[in-house]
Amino acid sequence: MERVFSGAQPTGNLHLGNYLGAIRNWVALQKDFECIFCVVDMHAITVWQDPKELRSNIRELAASMIASGIDPEKHVLFNQSQVSAHAELAWIFNCVARIGWLNRMTQFKEKAGKHRENASLGLYAYPSLMAADILTYKATHVPVGEDQKQHLELARDIALKFNNDYEVEGFFPQPEPLILGPATRVMSLRDGSKKMSKSDPSEMARINMTDDADTLSKKIRKAKTDPEPLPSEAAGLEGRPEAKNLITIFAALTNSTVDKVLSEHGGTQFSGFKQALTDVVVTKLAPITEEMARLNNDNAYIDAVLAKGAERANAIAQPILRDVKETVGFLNS
Ligand code: AMP
Ligand code: TRP
Repeated sequence: MERVFSGAQPTGNLHLGNYLGAIRNWVALQKDFECIFCVVDMHAITVWQDPKELRSNIRELAASMIASGIDPEKHVLFNQSQVSAHAELAWIFNCVARIGWLNRMTQFKEKAGKHRENASLGLYAYPSLMAADILTYKATHVPVGEDQKQHLELARDIALKFNNDYEVEGFFPQPEPLILGPATRVMSLRDGSKKMSKSDPSEMARINMTDDADTLSKKIRKAKTDPEPLPSEAAGLEGRPEAKNLITIFAALTNSTVDKVLSEHGGTQFSGFKQALTDVVVTKLAPITEEMARLNNDNAYIDAVLAKGAERANAIAQPILRDVKETVGFLNS
């Protein structure tokens, strides 16, 4: 039995990295897998969220998934906090995971920064909740961007330790990360060594899924580059992270490869290439942006989709959670 699970945090500023590294791949997987897609609102509150903004970000993220091509009829789309199995299994996993394992998580170190003592306990335990998200459906495949690979490895370790400790071999599967497409790590437009991120204070660093054509054009025109013309082959991108990023984005959006893009644009100046890139970005994003805007005016529809999705998710999760409780030695009524 193969099943896909993935999630994204409703923390606003959905950007091109989220689209190319995650959502676009989810859309493609719908053809071959049974899929469950989750707006992970419980993950979002590991750092402070204004309640009003959170509510609207949850709806907006669901809308952008639908606008990108997620089919909430054929597959399951819901928000995490409406299915209590996630929290229940996460607690059990908190008792399986070891502190030493969590201490190795690089994302926690990055997000907590210098003030680690002041980070929420939730931010620290977050990978254990993420393992619960996946395993409460016994999902086998998890499409994510590069940055989530370490969390996926932890989920595999938790699954294995649970199976070993409770002597239920094969109970939880070993979920496999699917890190797909040419753009698994889209970088900031201002600094090729940093990933494009929702939390970058500079709007100019990221391409938002809600940007209009003028904004896209300005951001791409001002994107950092170097003074050399484009190389003719991929090896020439070595040590030129900003150039590599723009070429990779172009290749991903045109379903091409870095080599093919360079064989066409090699030797040209960035000014011309940036114009071509702007055309591609605007053409590809405009239909999604328009549909997002339409859905953002229809809260009743989005709320109904999420409620129905939660019901279906719950129906899959409950029997698995019941087995887990039985295994652990809890009483099921
Ligand atoms: P998040 O917005 O952190 O919840 O991430 C949602 C999904 O987008 C995850 O699968 C991430 O791995 C992916 N993602 C986030 N930022 C990037 C990026 N800059 N490049 C590629 N994928 C990304
Ligand atoms: N941690 C992921 C991120 O920040 C989001 C996420 C939460 C997730 N639970 C998940 C992704 C389960 C895949 C599977 O991007």
